[in-house]
Amino acid sequence: MIVNLSNWLSQFVLRVLQISNMNIIIKTPEQIEGIRKSSKLAGDVLLYIAGFVKEGVTTNFLDQLIHNYIVEHGAIPATMNYNGFPKSCCISLNEVICHGIPSDRVVLKNGDILNIDITTILGGYFGDTSKMFTVGETTEAANKLINATQHCLDLGIQQVKPGNYLGNIGYVISRYAISQGFSVVYEYCGHGVGIHFHEDPQVDHAAKKNSGPKLKPGMIFTIEPMINEGRPRVKVDELDGWTARTVDHKLSAQFEHTVLVTNTGCEVLTDVSNQYPIT
Ligand code: MF3
Ligand code: CO
Ligand code: CO
Repeated sequence: MIVNLSNWLSQFVLRVLQISNMNIIIKTPEQIEGIRKSSKLAGDVLLYIAGFVKEGVTTNFLDQLIHNYIVEHGAIPATMNYNGFPKSCCISLNEVICHGIPSDRVVLKNGDILNIDITTILGGYFGDTSKMFTVGETTEAANKLINATQHCLDLGIQQVKPGNYLGNIGYVISRYAISQGFSVVYEYCGHGVGIHFHEDPQVDHAAKKNSGPKLKPGMIFTIEPMINEGRPRVKVDELDGWTARTVDHKLSAQFEHTVLVTNTGCEVLTDVSNQYPIT
């Protein structure tokens, strides 16, 4: 067997260039404290809105409540006017993967599954989190997808510790998703967050083992796997330019947390229910 050395070498050089060109901000203790507060507020918004998610309400009504809650807590909804996005959160129903625009025409009905994604700017710092909600009685298939997606996020979070490779997050997520018969959306990723809405690094939810940069204390980024029942591909709505749907119109689910790499492990900054231990 002949190993194509030049090809191997160019792949290697490309990868090294990619990693060394990344500009991952190591946050100062003061910045961490600010991002912690903003992240906690974003998590609180999801707790607050849970009581209003029911059959018959419009996604625009939920957006208005979310907008008011964020503003009343001294913060700004980061999505509003972000690259022209018109609302204070994203609400993505059923076959919508992400970036669903809250609307008066979208009325929640029995059996719907939806992701609500909140990004807050508090004191200039960003926090970003999302979770799934269900309306009335959902199918067993939908529940299985939601539970598997939550588990994907949990597995990803377990990989967050100094010295580990960023790529191991995507490695464990994709391995588990595929084992459950699902697919991983690779056209959207997690991201560094805190000083800006979207910073380096890009956090892939499908990646090779031990790939990418090594994690260092003070890094803050999101993990936000989007897992599909069917094919992984995305199609963005041509009319609104935002709504990302599955190409086969099968279901998609997503959960998102903002995580800090600590000296010994990780802290989930948007976890307001003490679901994850600080390690
Ligand atoms: N909150 C989303 C994320 O997790 C980004 C939404 S951008 C918007 O990165 F413009 F669609 F709101
Ligand atoms: Co995000
Ligand atoms: Co988000």
